[in-house]
Amino acid sequence: MADFSRGLAQCGARVIGLGEHAAPSLPAAVRRSLSDYIRVPSLVDTDSVLAAVRAHAFSTSIERVECLWEPFMGLAAEMREMLDVRGMHKEQTELFRDKEKMKDALDAAGLRTPRHVTAKGTEAIRAAANTMGFPLVVKPIAGAGSAHTHEVRDEMSLAVAVADVGDYREVSVEEYIEGEEYTFDTVCANGRILYENIAWYRPKPIVGRNVEWISMQTVNLRNLERPELAAGRELGRRVIETLGFRTGFTHMEWFLTPSGEAVFGEIGGRPPGGRSVDLMNFSNDFDIYTGWAEAVTRGEFSQTAHRRYNAAAIFKRARGQGHIREIHGLEDLRRRFGEHIVVEDLLPIGAPRRNWRQTLLSDGYLIVRHPQLERTLEIADAVGTDLQIDAR
Ligand SMILES: Nc1ncnc2c1ncn2[C@@H]1O[C@H](COP(=O)(O)OP(=O)(O)OP(=O)(O)O)[C@@H](O)[C@H]1O
Ligand SMILES: [Mg+2]
Repeated sequence: MADFSRGLAQCGARVIGLGEHAAPSLPAAVRRSLSDYIRVPSLVDTDSVLAAVRAHAFSTSIERVECLWEPFMGLAAEMREMLDVRGMHKEQTELFRDKEKMKDALDAAGLRTPRHVTAKGTEAIRAAANTMGFPLVVKPIAGAGSAHTHEVRDEMSLAVAVADVGDYREVSVEEYIEGEEYTFDTVCANGRILYENIAWYRPKPIVGRNVEWISMQTVNLRNLERPELAAGRELGRRVIETLGFRTGFTHMEWFLTPSGEAVFGEIGGRPPGGRSVDLMNFSNDFDIYTGWAEAVTRGEFSQTAHRRYNAAAIFKRARGQGHIREIHGLEDLRRRFGEHIVVEDLLPIGAPRRNWRQTLLSDGYLIVRHPQLERTLEIADAVGTDLQIDAR
């Protein structure tokens, strides 16, 4: 977020921050980018936030509202409606938030989504599961970070899912799509795609986020022309067109089935998290933070995407609980792959472990890059197996 703010300022925008924190406590990079700051007691209190912004808008004209964080996409939309500025309004924002609405809209356009229904409560979920048959996914309508998302292959895992999501949360019950999972990310302006990106999750998040020993990888792909990606890329373009996305970042997830079919997963009207935006920069040797800012302020993307590297982030989870005590294998990896390791961001010795279920970054990560995909995967896998962090 700090880099996106910087990008806007660099593109000549006067950036007014809106947040809960005291201005002096903001990161220096953010403070430098802001020409003004509106502090509110709580971003969740929509009415008071709108009032504060309205009061500010009397003295300064506000031409755009940008929010790149999922929980406040709806708030940003309300602000746009109130200020009568362009960008996504409430109804359209819903298409990027509500996993049922987005799929209904895509179904109507004939795009391939997993079969899906909504359900609330034990009985309704069980009835939906019966109609649809295993394997299934049960997940919240507006979830993030794979929280409360369950792979259901039998009665036992159905019982676990039902118990976890409870009786009051509305969920999607979906056909489980086998295969690999990819992203399709874009920067758009005025409905035109100005930059396209595809990353490959290894393994699928639903697997990696539920098994602690796995070091999840996001591999940003250099070559989007690989034949197996063509269907997903085409799907991605049509999704953006169908949902009428105009300007900003998009982040879609899709599945490539063993038979080569591309199936929609979900889409957000925002950039991906988990350092994926940095991976784009490492793949292209450009600055997509200003690239995005240029798109939203001037409708252009003037930088060239060189696509020189595949770039992979490998997220590490410590063994054991408590505080980080030892890091093994890093020296050896540096010796073997030094020039290809571009970021080392591990928790320092002595730091408390992070809660692996609540963070994508886990206890730290490395970013590696290489022009060849095979070699990138080899290095990323070496980081996965040979780098070990011990906590006690
Ligand atoms: N229909 C499906 N078939 C197979 N896997 C699925 C399906 N739906 C979701 N998943 C798996 O569960 C993960 C989380 O689901 P989804 O992306 O919809 O939720 P989320 O909580 O918004 O995730 P995140 O914020 O981590 O992207 C997906 O990345 C995918 O691995
Ligand atoms: Mg997702």
